[in-house]
Amino acid sequence: MRIEGHVAFITGGASGLGGATAAHLAAAGARVAVLDLPGPRLEEARAAGHLALAADVRDDAALEEAMAQCVSELGAPRIVVNCAGVATGARILNRAGEIDIASFRRTVEINLIGSFAVMSLAVRHMARLDPVEGGERGVILNTASIAATDGQVGQCAYSASKAGVSGLTLPAARELGRLGIRVVTIAPGLFETPMMAGLPEDVQERLATLPPFPHRLGRAAEYAALAVHVVENQMLNGTTLRLDGAVRLEPR
Ligand SMILES: NC(=O)c1ccc[n+]([C@@H]2O[C@H](COP(=O)([O-])OP(=O)(O)OC[C@H]3O[C@@H](n4cnc5c(N)ncnc54)[C@H](O)[C@@H]3O)[C@@H](O)[C@H]2O)c1
Repeated sequence: MRIEGHVAFITGGASGLGGATAAHLAAAGARVAVLDLPGPRLEEARAAGHLALAADVRDDAALEEAMAQCVSELGAPRIVVNCAGVATGARILNRAGEIDIASFRRTVEINLIGSFAVMSLAVRHMARLDPVEGGERGVILNTASIAATDGQVGQCAYSASKAGVSGLTLPAARELGRLGIRVVTIAPGLFETPMMAGLPEDVQERLATLPPFPHRLGRAAEYAALAVHVVENQMLNGTTLRLDGAVRLEPR
């Protein structure tokens, strides 16, 4: 699908991979709505000229309101990119022998259920749009992680949430194909973003040495370039694309 003139709705679009994608899609001529938690980064997205929508992806009513605002101010989105997410780490049993089911639930609610909720709401609006070239109505791009398949110790919640995102890709593409809506997932490897910056510096330095080539962390612009390509290439559908410089994570 050509990007110019279409509306893009990007969750987690105030930071990192989503922020770069918002900039790339806007540069390609999309009208961009950014949904994120309220805060200075969302204000920066507003200052950059995007429609800034403050909402938590776990809040169904707030999501519905944000999507309605996007539709009324920019139009129904033909491009949806789900980048809102949290990286959590917790062992099943911590050193004190305690368990933390609340943290698992929160991770799945944000990363997996949040992505599904945004996709569902967007599809309701997209389905009413006229098809454009090749009978296409829109594209949903979700973000998993290589942790969906190579989860490390302490990543049960994160890996399960991202495996869920990857798992819904094919059935969603199969269901939405009759509407001319594609569903694709990107599974990034190790990228230099504020999420990564949240890790201790020695961990970041070690992670940067892991990819065989290029021997560095990925750049948000590299994710955004693939996101743009996914929108433009109609044959990409129902699949999860690793973007990782051939890195495979060790158990810990
Ligand atoms: N950076 C990496 O190495 C990497 C690797 C694999 C996957 N990912 C995934 O890519 C996506 C983007 O990550 P990033 O590295 O750009 O991180 P980031 O922290 O820079 O951006 C994530 C954004 O999501 C927003 N967000 C978090 N919880 C939210 C909620 N409940 N409701 C609405 N917005 C919420 C944050 O405010 C933030 O702006 C995430 O899903 C992450 O899991 C990142």
